[in-house]
Amino acid sequence: MKNLKNLVAGVVLTTSCLLISQTAFAQKPAGKPWNAPESAIKIKNPTKGDDAVKEGKDIFNQNCKSCHGAKGKGDGTKAEKIDISCGDFTSAETAKKTDGELFWKATEGRKPMPSYKEKLSDSERWKVISYIRTL
Ligand code: HEC
Repeated sequence: MKNLKNLVAGVVLTTSCLLISQTAFAQKPAGKPWNAPESAIKIKNPTKGDDAVKEGKDIFNQNCKSCHGAKGKGDGTKAEKIDISCGDFTSAETAKKTDGELFWKATEGRKPMPSYKEKLSDSERWKVISYIRTL
């Protein structure tokens, strides 16, 4: 009986250790809630079409891929050095957000994510969002 108890305790302990280490390595914690203002969420993306997406892809690869990853999964080379998650642009959670919200966040940034207000024009930022939508 005592052996059985020890065995059960051992299995439970090993399983929880495995689970804890897996979550610690597989996924970084999300940043604090980050909400765009209502007025920004409502703004519609003025760019459309394949050309916008194509240009957006180049801009993404040059400016965003290092953290957000080639496919927007948040697994870029710089992401390893950041303590919070860069998010997953292919997730249902991102799909729920409006282009206006993503545009506002790309504009403002929030450490460690840089602001692109000065670095990219409005049109370039909208095109990146158009591209992110295809991921
Ligand atoms: C240095 C790494 C880094 C770079 C470069 C970077 N980001 Fe980010 N980005 C992040 C991190 C980290 C977050 C999560 C921020 C938080 O939760 O506070 C984030 C969040 C975002 C979000 C919010 C996602 C959501 O679901 O709310 C958007 C949109 C975004 N980034 C777009 C971009 C775009 C567009 C570019 C390139 C023009 C870019 N980022 C470049 C690190 C980066």
